[in-house]
Amino acid sequence: MKLKIGLLVCLVPLVVNMAMAEDQHLSAVVKSVNDFTLDFYLTTVAKSDPGKNVLVSPLSASLATALVHAGANGITAQEIETGLHFPRDKTTLDNGFKALHAALANTPNVTLDIANRVFIEKSSTIKPDYKQRVTQIHNSEIQQADFKNNFEKERANINGWVSQKTHDKINDLLPAGILDSLTRLVLVNAVYFYGKWKEQFDKAQTYEEDFYITKDKTVQVPMMHQTKNLRYADIPELDAKAVELCYVNENVCLQIILPNAKDGLQGLHEKLKNKTFDLSKIEFYRTKVQLTMPKFKIEQTIDLKQVYKEMNINTMFGQGADLKGMIEGDEGEALYVSDAIQKTFMDVNEEGTEAAAATACVSRRKRCLEDLPVELYVDHPFLFRLLNLTTVIFVGAHYEPTTESSEDYADALDDNEDPHFSDTPKPDDTVHPHKPSHCEL
Ligand SMILES: *[C@@H]1O[C@H](CO)[C@@H](O)[C@H](O)[C@H]1NC(C)=O
Ligand SMILES: *[C@@H]1O[C@H](CO)[C@@H](O)[C@H](O)[C@H]1NC(C)=O
Ligand SMILES: *[C@@H]1O[C@H](CO)[C@@H](O)[C@H](O)[C@H]1NC(C)=O
Repeated sequence: MKLKIGLLVCLVPLVVNMAMAEDQHLSAVVKSVNDFTLDFYLTTVAKSDPGKNVLVSPLSASLATALVHAGANGITAQEIETGLHFPRDKTTLDNGFKALHAALANTPNVTLDIANRVFIEKSSTIKPDYKQRVTQIHNSEIQQADFKNNFEKERANINGWVSQKTHDKINDLLPAGILDSLTRLVLVNAVYFYGKWKEQFDKAQTYEEDFYITKDKTVQVPMMHQTKNLRYADIPELDAKAVELCYVNENVCLQIILPNAKDGLQGLHEKLKNKTFDLSKIEFYRTKVQLTMPKFKIEQTIDLKQVYKEMNINTMFGQGADLKGMIEGDEGEALYVSDAIQKTFMDVNEEGTEAAAATACVSRRKRCLEDLPVELYVDHPFLFRLLNLTTVIFVGAHYEPTTESSEDYADALDDNEDPHFSDTPKPDDTVHPHKPSHCEL
């Protein structure tokens, strides 16, 4: 009989202090997260209902799956290495993950909390090598649990730990029925990000405007406005434009990638699938941008098991699983991964971002006078990425405003007596967002 491991992953942003990137082991592991990002994102998009928002954390998935990998052998381990692009060399892998945890813990001026914990059945004996690797390399705590007699109480404990680590943004990670008396380990990663924009949006300039959920159908959403010097890019290869909004730590930014066509996000996904363009190669330059973009909030639960199977990571979920490295005895021989889940949350508003994922739409006006801003009107589905200069913490697709957000939207609007009349331009907002820019004249 096979016993169960619940693998849990919460999605949160990832940032690495580049000062340590001279460490080539760290670089190799950072590269693995980034190489895994596109497959993970596109596979999740393909499994989601068309037109639904998507938010995944490649970083969190990678950190949690590394805890499985640390106890895996043979094909089970090889499939993880291939699917998650892990370095094949064990020294590189171990040193790299250790350095990654250290680097992430050192991200100034934003909050980035990352925690791993291994919950283990108290009557089982963890293998010394596994214990050493998860604690020393993967920075994980180990906590005993009474799955045999009280799995429901342990489920509540684990969910409580996750809620606490994510400031109550990820609750009920483990649904009822996912643990039972045969559960032996639950491997959990939690990520929490909070960053304030370096250039905040003025709340008085947020008001309802149309967002194209399809080519012909619009809904009203609260749109934020600012005209500032921002990093901007035209990406003809993707038929898209991009803008980068950075946090108080300017190494950590949210990129919005906006297809030129109102219904262009699907086509953009196709181009990414074809690998005709690498998102890390976007050539941003600093220019004055008149930016209009929605506030948004996305919450998602991802059945990571189904996504991984699609990515040919199968063996760990079945009879052939080899996770013999984790616990002693016959039980240790019989382990497999019974479930893998990721939940994500991201709230983007005038002040900043809590957690993360996004897509961007930019319409650029060409041949404007030098001092006139380019205009980026994010009023249709877009791709977004939350990242340090190179490491992707969150990636997502924004297709439509979510119902969860509407309360907050209402609250925000309540702050202004009449939002449509409170958008007094700031000194640097020389162009009213509603008016055609001088480029059109
Ligand atoms: C994070 O940003 C810093 C500062 O630019 C950079 O040196 C470092 O390489 C980045 N780290 C990653 C993993 O992108
Ligand atoms: C963090 O903030 C301090 C004080 O404003 C600033 O001096 C420092 O450069 C910032 N660090 C980063 C990485 O943004
Ligand atoms: C992707 O590649 C296939 C085959 O190479 C091609 O038929 C298709 O048009 C390409 N799609 C895009 C969006 O570039």
